[in-house]
Amino acid sequence: MEPVCYLEDLFVDPGARGAGVGGALIRDLADLGRTCGWKRLYWHTRADNKAARRLYDHFTEADGFVRYTLVLR
Ligand SMILES: CC(C)(COP(=O)(O)OP(=O)(O)OC[C@H]1O[C@@H](n2cnc3c(N)ncnc32)[C@H](O)[C@@H]1OP(=O)(O)O)[C@@H](O)C(=O)NCCC(=O)NCCS
Repeated sequence: MEPVCYLEDLFVDPGARGAGVGGALIRDLADLGRTCGWKRLYWHTRADNKAARRLYDHFTEADGFVRYTLVLR
């Protein structure tokens, strides 16, 4: 079975945003995954997170999945 990577909560210090850090982190992780033979890299964001989506849209299109969360307590 080929490994896949889930990127949880990309976060760049507010003082460093807009300078390419977030993009560099994704590129570095993708390069690591290619080197290690991972099948894919995926992550979630809120539909209305405009800053994040502008960055992510440079890499690939959103895949259309919708998350459902059932609160249990
Ligand atoms: C979302 C977040 C991680 C982005 O990090 P960042 O370091 O500011 O992002 P970057 O500087 O790499 O990207 C900013 C710009 O460079 C562009 N860019 C980045 N990588 C690129 C690439 N490979 N090719 C072309 N353009 C690229 C982005 O599209 C964006 O351009 P624009 O704003 O001029 O349209 C950051 O804003 C953050 O930490 N936000 C709060 C936490 C959050 O919401 N995280 C996301 C949770 S899913």
